[in-house]
Amino acid sequence: MSKAAAQEIEKLREQIRYHDRKYYVENAPEISDHEYDMLMKKLEALEEKHPGLVTPDSPTQRVGGEPVEGFATVRHRVPMLSISNTYSDEELREFDDRVRRLLGGEDFSYVAELKIDGLAVTLWYENGLLVRGATRGDGETGEEVTANLRTIRQIPLRLTNGKKAPPVIEVRGEVYMTHKELDRLNKQREEAGEPPFANPRNAAAGSLKLLDPRITAQRRLRMFAYDVGHFEGINLESHHQTLSILGKVGFVLNPHTKQCKDIEAVIRRCRVWNEKRRDLDYEVDGMVIKIDRLDQRRRLGATSKSPRWQMAYKFPAEEAQTPLERITVQVGKTGVLTPVANLRPVRLAGTTVARATLHNFEELARKDIREGDEVVIQKAGEIIPQVLRVVKEKRPIWARPFPVPTHCPVCGSEVIKPEGEVYVRCVNIGCPAQIKERIKYFAGRNAMDIEGLGAALVEQLVDEGLVHDCADLYSLPLDRLVSLERMAEKSATNLLSAIEKSKRREIDRLIAGLAIPHVGTRAAEVLTENFASLDELASAPVERLEEIHEIGPVMAAAIAGFFRNEEIQRILEKLKAAGVNMVRLSTPGADGEKPLAGKTLVVTGTLGRYSRKEIEDLIKQLGGKPAGSVSKKTDYVVAGESPGSKKTKAEQLGVPVLSEEEFDELIGGK
Ligand code: IVH
Repeated sequence: MSKAAAQEIEKLREQIRYHDRKYYVENAPEISDHEYDMLMKKLEALEEKHPGLVTPDSPTQRVGGEPVEGFATVRHRVPMLSISNTYSDEELREFDDRVRRLLGGEDFSYVAELKIDGLAVTLWYENGLLVRGATRGDGETGEEVTANLRTIRQIPLRLTNGKKAPPVIEVRGEVYMTHKELDRLNKQREEAGEPPFANPRNAAAGSLKLLDPRITAQRRLRMFAYDVGHFEGINLESHHQTLSILGKVGFVLNPHTKQCKDIEAVIRRCRVWNEKRRDLDYEVDGMVIKIDRLDQRRRLGATSKSPRWQMAYKFPAEEAQTPLERITVQVGKTGVLTPVANLRPVRLAGTTVARATLHNFEELARKDIREGDEVVIQKAGEIIPQVLRVVKEKRPIWARPFPVPTHCPVCGSEVIKPEGEVYVRCVNIGCPAQIKERIKYFAGRNAMDIEGLGAALVEQLVDEGLVHDCADLYSLPLDRLVSLERMAEKSATNLLSAIEKSKRREIDRLIAGLAIPHVGTRAAEVLTENFASLDELASAPVERLEEIHEIGPVMAAAIAGFFRNEEIQRILEKLKAAGVNMVRLSTPGADGEKPLAGKTLVVTGTLGRYSRKEIEDLIKQLGGKPAGSVSKKTDYVVAGESPGSKKTKAEQLGVPVLSEEEFDELIGGK
């Protein structure tokens, strides 16, 4: 019986793998989704009856297991070095000259591949079975995300020619998300009140680093294989041969990879794809150019940072043109009025863009942006959509300059424009827009960090009259919460416990959360170092505040004025009565023992191990100050991948530039 079952199970698996390949790899399904589901159900039922016959490479085992606490770190057997970048044909020719020189005039050829904007991963197969997968991380070590990678249908759990598979092969490739999938995901996120992903790369990275593989499975990630790392028991001579083998054993290869006989052919290919990239259903940010022969690669070797046999050509940042349909005015947490461009939705660098910030009314006038104009937009730092300029020739005759508002669009009270400031402000502290924005900020990551209290929920709470100021959050009744639309009992209890937890935060978070004009997170930390409690800060005279290094006269005046406001005093009393911590918890002045005490650091480029926020928090914790731009006063620049102009500037000024590893060394592995 069991033998017959074993045979049937194996037969079903073979069938499913065959159809998986047809569907996910070759894009040419032979059976309907329904027929496929039936095969899968049959297999599941049989495996349930014979649990002893379940194997890890069974198609039923893509999503297995429970959420994890965190990811283990793995050291790559062969480092995943980064690639040098260029934006110019000239530098490609210089690269070619260098290769030619180093190879002593020998013949060589290139392979040009699309540079997919996702994240690099490595997959470790033993005897044809996927045993481990990891992210690139910093190139030396990455995060072990096997359970999540297993959910990607385009990653074979077992190599197709499993029987004669090499004992070990490490396959590398790019995990990415299609535009279509990102649109679907972002729509879902917006409906759920979660922030949308700004680009496909963030979406892919975010999805692969989820602690619950069941959610990753729903994200429909894909992968193109483009290289091997360590391998045993096979002989590889060239890149095109490597790719062909990867295709044979079940990986998806990018169909636009091409061998080029010389650098001019490469350059032509780059031009073609710079134009055609918009036709693809996935984001491509450049081309990767690789020397084909592996023996030549070995001879060329690598510098400390990147191989000498490969180069990335980056496309210029994408721009898009679209009509600006309407300018609306947003009111921020401190009452600042910001003009926003409402655009006819247009695709730009992987997402659909319908709005762009116009910063302030001076900028609006300077760029002479009007309703009805055709505008050119771009994403700043690949994230925030911005209007670059107007296409003047296309301006309709009726277009008029946008008037600077005299009244708040939300509460209708008169606005002011303080001398010397670029911002127009609504000064009605009871303005509903301000209230909402203040509470969102209070609950946000940079302030009290209340998990589960997102923008949509704050709007709902204010609109329903449950909350009028941030202190009201601490007296939310469970039954009223549960009665809100889209609020289940479980999420309501979770929210209340997150709110409760926020009572015990250090006061710098509370100070930041109050949204005092001009006071951001850094200033809130400085104030915390100088005052032992909120009461002490609230009663400090302007002169005392001005004495503090890093607190200028404008900020000092704003702080003193803020605490004189009776409404604010009332809110502070309420917070205190609710049991929110109002005194400094840490001991200041111990900075002398911290490795970065008194140092200013600028971080640039993409790091492997830290997010930008993480490294900046770490710098602060270790007594240092993270800064945004490089000057002579900068002590160190920490440069990740694709560092850009900040690194160049540091080099010009003689500021030491550290790699991520050197940074870790500097802080002594803290
Ligand atoms: S080869 C791990 N080939 O570009 C290094 N990389 O800027 C692999 N990428 O980290 C280098 N498409 O995430 C290579 N066809 C391709 C690629 C590609 C996208 C990414 C990869 C890498 C980054 C370097």
